[in-house]
Amino acid sequence: MISFARGVPAPECLPVEDLADCAKVAIERDGRTILSYGAGGGYGPLREWIAARHGVAPGRVMLTNGSLQGFVFLTTHFFGSGKPGRVLVEAPTYDRPLKILAAAGAEIVALPVDDEGLDPDALEAELRKGPKPAFVYSIPTFQNPSGRTLSAERRTRIAELIAEHDVLFLEDDPYGLVRYEGTAQPSLFSLEGGTQVIYSSSFSKTVAPGVRVGYFIFPEAVGKAVEAIAVSNYISPVMLSQATVFEFVNRGRFEPNLERVIGLLGARRDAMLEALEKELGGSGAVWSHPEGGYFLWLDFPAGVDCDELLPRAEATGVTFVKGTDFFVPGGGGQNAARLAYSFVSVDEIYEGVAKLASLMR
Ligand SMILES: Cc1ncc(COP(=O)(O)O)c(C=O)c1O
Repeated sequence: MISFARGVPAPECLPVEDLADCAKVAIERDGRTILSYGAGGGYGPLREWIAARHGVAPGRVMLTNGSLQGFVFLTTHFFGSGKPGRVLVEAPTYDRPLKILAAAGAEIVALPVDDEGLDPDALEAELRKGPKPAFVYSIPTFQNPSGRTLSAERRTRIAELIAEHDVLFLEDDPYGLVRYEGTAQPSLFSLEGGTQVIYSSSFSKTVAPGVRVGYFIFPEAVGKAVEAIAVSNYISPVMLSQATVFEFVNRGRFEPNLERVIGLLGARRDAMLEALEKELGGSGAVWSHPEGGYFLWLDFPAGVDCDELLPRAEATGVTFVKGTDFFVPGGGGQNAARLAYSFVSVDEIYEGVAKLASLMR
């Protein structure tokens, strides 16, 4: 099966030998600490490294076993006691948070996204209408699932709206450093000053997802409450992984590895765009042009139903995730697909896109 569904790095992106050595050295150097229970907020040296990169105090950085687990803790903080409340999300958005929020009983309000990212007018209208949401969830850079990036103008405007409405805003940014072209935009966290913006990221896309090291930078009060939830769940997160990642970054492997990953995945992004142009150019299908990250969003012409197309695609050996998975039920995406180019080879990309195009025709 050619999988455009798997939003994971191709195996050759994983720095296996380096990490094996880092894990060994981390245990030898700091085994008595990292093989015991540790601090609820995670391994101190890695928190300090992240804090320095973001210009914050280390106490504001909380490490979790993947950033998605931090999202679960944040959701528990707001909705765990059965309290009602709203969360504003992008439409489409990453499907796992949608499911986590729905399971927690949150009211999910979806806001439109276009080629420039989240629509600030829609955000403003919803904030004015009220009631105030528990938080706004957004993936401004190389969004999962669309690959789109919030424009510079919109970043400034949204940072102003966050301040004006004093609303908590979660900026989820696991892909931002995996950029193939264009110029990096300032984070909402940096534009707003980190008072109301929670920043989350992860080493899943820059080092390896299997280390399960994600992190959050919280405003102080929220951070303490979320850390208490984490501690009551797992006492401490996995120190061995975090110390391994610390050893990796501390010996200067982070940037060269990232450059290597960008080379490997950038070639796949280029192949996906070229294959789509060749196979679907002029067909009425439209797709996003991600400058980084793992995903591209494909809108088939109106009338194509991906509930019907996907099983036929799988029967010919190619799979993707249906657009509807990234919306609240009934919210859209019927003729859309999320195509991940991170896992498949360049040859598979050309072959898979050709198969999809012939099925569509
Ligand atoms: C937008 C977004 N946030 C969070 C995550 C989860 O990352 P982690 O591996 O750190 O849990 C992913 C993973 O695909 C993602 O796409």
